[in-house]
Order: sequence, then structure tokens, then C-alpha cells
Amino acid sequence: MSKVDIQKYVDSLNVELLNYIYHNRKNCGQLSSQDDGKEVCLLGWTFRYRDQGGVIFIDLRDRSGIVQIVLEESHLKNYDVATSIRYEYVLAIKGKVRKRSPETINPKIPTGDIEVFVDEFMILNPSKPLPFGLDEYVQVGEETRLKYRYLDLRREEMQNALITRSKMNLEIRKFLDENGFLEIETPVLNKSTPEGARDFLVPSRLQPGKFYALPQSPQIFKQILMASGFERYYQIVKCFRDEDLRADRQPEFTQLDLEMSFINEEIIISLMEKLWYNVIKKIFWIELPIPFPRISYKEAMENYGSDRPDLRFEMKLVDIADIAERSDFQVFKNALQKGGRVKALCVPGGAVLSRKDIDDLTEWVKKDYKAGGLAWIKHEKDGLKSVISKFFSEDLLVELSKRCNSKEGDIIFFAADKEKIVHDTLGNLRLRLAKRFNMIPKDQYACCWVVDFPLFERNLDTNELESVHHPFTSPIDEDLPILLDDEKFAQQGEKIRARAYDMVINGVEVGGGSIRIHREDVQLVVLKRLGINEEQAREKFGFLLDALSYGAPPHGGIAFGLDRMLALFLGKDSIRDVIAFPKTQKGMCLMSGTPSEVELKQLQELRIRIIKT
Ligand code: AMO
Ligand code: AMP
Repeated sequence: MSKVDIQKYVDSLNVELLNYIYHNRKNCGQLSSQDDGKEVCLLGWTFRYRDQGGVIFIDLRDRSGIVQIVLEESHLKNYDVATSIRYEYVLAIKGKVRKRSPETINPKIPTGDIEVFVDEFMILNPSKPLPFGLDEYVQVGEETRLKYRYLDLRREEMQNALITRSKMNLEIRKFLDENGFLEIETPVLNKSTPEGARDFLVPSRLQPGKFYALPQSPQIFKQILMASGFERYYQIVKCFRDEDLRADRQPEFTQLDLEMSFINEEIIISLMEKLWYNVIKKIFWIELPIPFPRISYKEAMENYGSDRPDLRFEMKLVDIADIAERSDFQVFKNALQKGGRVKALCVPGGAVLSRKDIDDLTEWVKKDYKAGGLAWIKHEKDGLKSVISKFFSEDLLVELSKRCNSKEGDIIFFAADKEKIVHDTLGNLRLRLAKRFNMIPKDQYACCWVVDFPLFERNLDTNELESVHHPFTSPIDEDLPILLDDEKFAQQGEKIRARAYDMVINGVEVGGGSIRIHREDVQLVVLKRLGINEEQAREKFGFLLDALSYGAPPHGGIAFGLDRMLALFLGKDSIRDVIAFPKTQKGMCLMSGTPSEVELKQLQELRIRIIKT
């Protein structure tokens, strides 16, 4: 703004009137025909305007909604100023509500049967021409939306998402308060917590060469709060993980984190079902079907190839190892000989897939899931057809079709490899083809608990044992003998079961938790099995081990991804659409240009030198 513009603005302000408008303000979206004849004061943005020569119609928008205001030349001293109003100009008005004549009623907006005839108005701030129309966002690329996030957030859809988010947090807090939970904050500048992702580090100025880690979750602190006797803790809390980002992953995201003392799995699972039943019913008017079914990790992997199964549709994976064994197909037989698996996925109606479709799918599973290939057989009118059917006798083909329950028009895909690759390949193929063939019913919420997880799994790349959840998860008591005995552990270590539970809705892992190890001695053994000796353990989590050694109560808890929960129930494809200021896939905030370089002086204070690569 030039000096002249600022002077014009100051001259146009009637401070007395403006204060009167502030104090008597009504919400645009809440006016109705019951206000007919009343004087109202409104403040808001110019959502749409139509200059019809001598009369200007404006849709004035505030957080509550939209109402049409009418500015008439014959009625206003400063009508010439009104002609300069454009999109998103900020206005203050005083006027009278009047009913619209029947032919001018706008049924599309709740205030469509009235309008406000303006007596006085002021422009509080103009707006530059917009980079995109606020009601035409569909065609706007996400990069542009994120760059101009302040404008994007003015849109009804984003306003709704964030209003819903605020309401959801409130309902969660109410429920947990009524159930004896305390909200306690935990530090953000931390020692690293092992949740399996990379840490974000913050260099310490006061102790050069040392670093804080941003918390991947408040896991250790909430356990310490149990040792301190708080019994029921919760926190709606930001967590930070430096991992590869996807639609449902952000580097900083929000958990509803909680922990309870003196509980078992049943207590926490049923309380959490009650929590979400209440919250989702209040916010979305949806009644979740509690209690949720429980399915074991093994069942989930065997049937759906995933530990977060989407149960809205069937199409299960089928084991065909015994049939493969009797065939002449070397690829399958080799996989079995190496201790791998051969499984099938029958896709109803899938025979319409072209060779090119199948080739594309094959490339995809090879690239993303390390599959060796993707064999297939089409069930056609006169039997099972494929380049690989020659390796199966007629009888075997019939048996195969029976096992997979295939009908004419279906396609059966096969994966033969190490178990993990087979499950990743067919599990993801199941989801992709279900989408493509519209098998996923809309507006259904298939909730479940996945239970009976293994405590450890072997990382195929490093060949080392890792925690399936995190190292503080308790094994089930019956499996302690395996944990404690070196020989038994060497043979059956991966069979040890964890007291862990994940909540899954529509194939989204919305929460995960466990009963924890509350004894120092057991914790030390589990860490040892993970390759962390006592010295390293004390260095890393000595404070937790100490806390456990002073009479920590048995305890357990869970954390829910609130961004995922909201995205799911608001029907958003990405959690970015429920976060006010999200980061891109590359971890950037396009609005503020974060991350950015810093001043040399700052680096010097931290004694940090950048190595240019
Ligand atoms: P976990 O690592 O399973 O457990 O995290 C809990 C839940 O947080 C959500 N979540 C994410 N959401 C968005 N972006 C991410 N990058 C991201 N990572 C995780 C998921 C997940 O289910 N301390 C344990 C909990 C416990 O044991 O109590 C923990 O953090 O919905
Ligand atoms: P090939 O003998 O390599 O020509 O493969 C015959 C078919 O088997 C092709 O459709 C391959 O995609 C498929 N195939 C190869 N390796 C595997 C595997 N490990 N699992 C499943 N199918 C495979």
C-alpha cells in the first residue's frame, strides 16, 4: 500500500461506527427469516460479488457461513467505494435483514431466503487478485494450495476439517477426564525414543557437540509417569519422525497418547472402544460396531497379507503350496524348496485385465515389493488359461480353481517367494484391484483389533531381530521361558508373542499399543535379545530402567494417530487435508519455505559446520 492508500484508508474509517459494529456483531451464517426487519452488524470477507449497476450484491462470508448483502447507490453516501470491492475484501457493515422475494431465494445456502440491506459499510482491508478462486479449488494443484495455505484454509472444506478436529479433541478430553485421566505434558527436547524411525535432532548450544532428539512419541515419559503413580495419563501431542513420507505419514503428526496402571488387555481395549464409540458418534453421527472383532496377526497376514487388513471386502489370499508342489512349475517349486511360500489371489471379474494391465502390475510388484514376478491364470469359458497352465495337469488345474473358488471371468494371481514378499505383493495387489474393480463399499467402517503379534521380527536386509512394536512391549508370560533361555531363544525367539494390540479401521492402522514390561530384569533381557547389552541399555534408557527398579506398577497403554482418524472419517485421501500447516512429501512447508538455511552466526554458536556434498 502506498502512503496515499493508507491515508485514504484512515480517512474512510469511522472508528466509532466500527466499534459499534464489533460490539453488536452477528454471524453471517446464523441469520434467518426470523431476523426479518432487524438491524444487524456483520464482519467478513467478500466471497462473491455482482455489480449490476446501481446495485451490488455481495455474498459476505465469515466462519459461520454466508449471507447476501445488498449495497444500493441511491442509499449509500460512499457507493463509489463499494464499486471497488473485489474478491476477499474485508468488510464491516451495518444494515437491515429483509426477506427475499420468492424468485430470488437461493436454496443452495442456509440463509438463502434473506438478505441484508446495507445502511453503512467500510472496507477494512482490500485483497490482491487471488491465485485461485476459493470455490473452484478442485482444479487447484496441491502445491499451490499449500503455498497459499492461508487462502486454502478459508475454504469451507478446510474450515470444516479444522473445526471438526477441534471438536474431536474436546470430546476426547471430556471422555478421558470423566474416566479419571490426567493430561500431563512431556518434554519436546528429549533423548531419542526408539519407535523405529529416524530422529530429528536439535543441537545444543550450551553443550556443543550434544543433541536433543525430538520425541518420536512420549513412550518412555508416559511409562515413567506410571512409575510416579499417576495411574491414568493422556496427552494430545505432536510426535516427530524423520521417515519417508506418504499420504498417511507426516514428519510431525499428532497422537492421542495414553497410559494406565494396573490393567490388562481387556480393560484397555474395551475402554478404548467406548472412547471412540462416543467420540465418533458425537462428531460424525456414526455408531461404530463395538465390540470390534479381534483377529490375530497370523490370521491377518495369512488372509490379507497385511497386519492392517481392510475388512470391508473379502478376497482373501489362499495358500497353494501343496498344489504347487505337485506341479512342474520350477519357479514355485524353487520358492518352496528355499522355505518360502506360494499363495494365490483370485480376483472376481479380473479376467478383463489386458496383457498390458498385467505387465504394469508385474512391474509394480517387482519394484515396490521385491517380487520375482507375478504369475497369473485366467478362468475362461473353457478352463484355466495362462502361459503357466502347461505346468499343471488338468486335475491340478481343477483343484487350483476349487481352492481359489474361481469362476468364469476371474483371474488368479500367484506370488512365490519369501513369506514377507509374498504377503506384501498379494496384500497390496488385493487393495489395488479392489479399488479398480469397485469392491470397496462406501460409508462402511470395518474396525478390528489385531492381536497376538510376535514380539520380534527379523529385518530381511540386516538379518537382525527388531521389535515389532517397541522394546518396552511385554512378552506374554507363557513365553518368558523362551526369552530367558539362550538355546530356546535361538530356535523359537521369533515365536514369542507380545501383549500388543493395534486398532485398524478400513485398512488404516489408527492406533497401536501394548502392556509394557514393568520389571527391570525382564526389560534388560528383551534389550539383550535386541542386541543391546546392559551397558548400552543403561546409557540409552538408564532412567527408565531405574524407574522400573523402584516399584513401577504393571502398566500399559496405546497411542492413536489423530490425523489418520480424522482423515478416515472425513473421507480424505491424505492426512494433509486435516492438518492446518502440513509438510509436502519432501518434508517442506511450501508456505514458509521450511526447512531453510540459517545464518552462519547461528551455526558458529552451535559449533556446526555444513559439509557440502
Ligand atoms: P506407533 O508408532 O504405532 O506407537 O504410533 C501410534 C499411531 O500413530 C500414528 N502414526 C502416524 N501418523 C501420521 N504420520 C506418521 N508418521 C505416523 N506414525 C505413526 C499411527 C499409529 O498407529 N509409543 C507407541 C504407542 C504405545 O505403545 O502406546 C507409538 O508411538 O496411527
Ligand atoms: P518366467 O518363467 O520367468 O517366464 O515366468 C513365468 C511367469 O511366472 C511370469 O508371469 C512371471 O511373472 C511369473 N513369476 C516369475 N517369478 C515369480 C515369482 N517369484 N512369483 C510369482 N510369479 C513369478
